[in-house]
Amino acid sequence: MSVRHGFPPIGIDAIALGVPRRFVELSELAEARGVAPSKYLTGLGTRRMAIAAPEEDPITLAANAARRLFLRSGASPADIGLCVVGTETAVDHSKPAASFLHGLLGLPSACRVFEAKHACFGGTAGLLNAVDWIASGSARGRAALVVCSDVARYALGSAGEPTQGAGAVALLVRERPRLLALEVGQTGSYARDVYDFWRPLHHKEALVDGHFSVQCYLDALAGAYGEWRRQDGDGEPLARTCYHVPYGKMARKAHRHRRMIDGLTEQAADESFAVEVEPSLDLPARIGNIYTGSLYLALASLLSAQARDLEGKRIGLFSYGSGSCAEFFAGRVVPEAGALVAALEIDAPLAECHHTPVAEYEALRRNDEAADRRPAPEDAERGGASLDRRAVYLGLDSSERRVYANA
Ligand code: HMG
Repeated sequence: MSVRHGFPPIGIDAIALGVPRRFVELSELAEARGVAPSKYLTGLGTRRMAIAAPEEDPITLAANAARRLFLRSGASPADIGLCVVGTETAVDHSKPAASFLHGLLGLPSACRVFEAKHACFGGTAGLLNAVDWIASGSARGRAALVVCSDVARYALGSAGEPTQGAGAVALLVRERPRLLALEVGQTGSYARDVYDFWRPLHHKEALVDGHFSVQCYLDALAGAYGEWRRQDGDGEPLARTCYHVPYGKMARKAHRHRRMIDGLTEQAADESFAVEVEPSLDLPARIGNIYTGSLYLALASLLSAQARDLEGKRIGLFSYGSGSCAEFFAGRVVPEAGALVAALEIDAPLAECHHTPVAEYEALRRNDEAADRRPAPEDAERGGASLDRRAVYLGLDSSERRVYANA
């Protein structure tokens, strides 16, 4: 399973999602923007975007994903020795998202907690760090909790708007994982200083050089994949590959690029897309770009659709973070993963989401800054550790501390 012979495998043991309660249909957004719906639905390969309400933020999404992870997987907060939150839409310049989570989940005090930022790559930085923490022996039998959580915002009416989304993916990482054993020590990294996507400290909405960012992503893929292939040599072919999915069409472009590097013609590369990639794109199309969690949402989608058929098979993973850093790595789906995926009911939180008209979404966005900085009710009860209630954001107290409660 792992390239470290003689050691127990390490990887993803369980996976869970946290999603906001509202979504916008992109066909309706296209109409409101005077754009042909086929541009968003086919041209970009998107369907819906999840949007966060005032009581939802990257902390509540992360806490709700992690709670679900514990409840469905049978793991306990007491098992955790490392908690990393990957996010590029942090709520505080100093206090890390992982500290809020530590309190809301009741993690042990003997636990390393921190936040990882590198655009959409922050979650992968957390995951690979967790794998190395276990492989080094520092874990001493404990597990890591890695949560990727973001609310993606571009300006209303901008080209980036239909590629928004919001949500969190929580990963339980440990020895002898029950879902995906990662190939420890074999990854292809690529980095380059580029200004393709950025968000100055005083902005809530990202700025992007959209077409340039697409080229940066493809260059990073070629670099990271090339580096990975040099290590892999004549390794077993990948049955499926999950990509970072800012929108579905980007995964399609990425796959064509990668398979042409493998020597396929453009036609053969495109023909392999339906089998090798398409099953990973259902959840991303229903939620949108969730930045750090996007690759793991694609993985969740693939496992929800095909875990049983893929048991024992090797799959590739490509993570891209603007700015930029990328990594290509691989893992093998564990025997019996199919039964666990059925028990995890990964996509169940989506059943609680409801359709929101474009006018309501626009009103929420115009009120965004004010809603984020509203005062919490004076008698607000702060949320303590709870596994079975949803976290909600109430507002700021008189010292500008964020107040969360369990609803
Ligand atoms: P745009 O300029 O509005 O769109 O923005 P376009 O004109 O390039 O059209 C898009 C596609 O739709 C094209 O297909 C058109 O042909 C097609 P393609 O040539 O790409 O195959 N099209 C139509 N199809 C059917 N019917 C029609 C029609 N009209 C046009 N009527 C852009 C597109 C992606 C630039 C924009 O949405 C954007 O800026 N998005 C945000 C940036 C982004 O997602 N970049 C992706 C790579 S960078 C990345 O992934 C990192 C990121 O996640 C952030 C992080 O790391 O933190 C963003």
